[in-house]
Amino acid sequence: MKSKIIVTGGLGFIGSHTVVALHEAGFEPIIIDNLSNSQLSALDGIEKLIGYKPQFAQFDVNDAPALRQLIEESKPHAVIHFAAFKAVGESVEKPLMYYRNNVGGLVTLLEVMKETGLTDIVFSSSCTVYGEPAEIPVKESTITKPAESPYGATKQMGEVILKDNAPWCNTQCLRYFNPIGAHPSAEIGELPLGVPNNLIPYLTQTVAGIRESLTVFGNDYDTPDGTCIRDYIHVVDLAEAHVSAVKRLIDKSYQNAFEVFNIGTGNGSTVLEVINSFESATGLKVPHTIGGRRAGDVVKVWAETTKVENVLGWKAKRNLETMLRDAWNWQVKLSK
Ligand code: UFG
Repeated sequence: MKSKIIVTGGLGFIGSHTVVALHEAGFEPIIIDNLSNSQLSALDGIEKLIGYKPQFAQFDVNDAPALRQLIEESKPHAVIHFAAFKAVGESVEKPLMYYRNNVGGLVTLLEVMKETGLTDIVFSSSCTVYGEPAEIPVKESTITKPAESPYGATKQMGEVILKDNAPWCNTQCLRYFNPIGAHPSAEIGELPLGVPNNLIPYLTQTVAGIRESLTVFGNDYDTPDGTCIRDYIHVVDLAEAHVSAVKRLIDKSYQNAFEVFNIGTGNGSTVLEVINSFESATGLKVPHTIGGRRAGDVVKVWAETTKVENVLGWKAKRNLETMLRDAWNWQVKLSK
């Protein structure tokens, strides 16, 4: 029988790709999603890719009775916990909403897991915990900095909560760098609500004619071309990292109950390099202008990937052009 894996936020950007990767690796994903920042159409896309509609329960992870019932009925082997808000600016405006959803949701999930004897969890963390990194590339042992936003604080608190529960709970904590792209089939991808905050959806919407021009936030940073550097990672590679983490939990091959991994490619790209790569991957021009710096932006960050390669046995396979081509194909599909 296939091992069942609960995926909270399983209809979101990273969640939907992980559901597909779990199926491909022989697991049975069970999706929980309250549709607060996702759409049911993602379930149709998943169905097209895996050949059936996976079990989907629409509720909030703060709903303990619903969670308890689902876990008791389905008897999953592990949980992958994506369900969380993720917009830095919004978190500054509505901090309580972020603490309720991101911290409260995790606490509720852990309480129900403990009650029902479910011990294994993969947690979505972020390279935001490093702030402006003390060293580059960033190692898992690099010191974390005080959070610059309530969003960042919720990820740091989530890590602490999971560490404190290590006596009974086994965690694979994945610190994502910048996930972009879409499934190569263009059946699933990112569905930003309203004006996108992030670079890639803004870029693809600009090329599609939905936005007039992309503003590059600052070109006077201490980087080769003056624009900020990030470690962009293909969402399908990221999804596959979750499968490796789930296997490590199920096989009990972890060395510590709380383990943390950087999930990036190990390569940094500037904003202008992203624009150039997009243009050479697609042959299309990106209308853009240089604007002022965006408050709170880290100047440069990319991952040291030795630990994740050696210990988790996972390595990113897809390059920047592939990420951008897949992001564009998804935008084309959305614009139809
Ligand atoms: N950028 C632009 N123009 C835009 C949007 C972004 O120039 O319209 C630049 C940013 O200044 C930054 C880069 O593109 O240099 C990437 O910006 P994103 O908003 O796409 O991503 P961030 O690195 O700011 O944020 C992401 C996630 C957060 C997470 C953070 C961790 O969105 O959830 O990484 O560093 F916390």
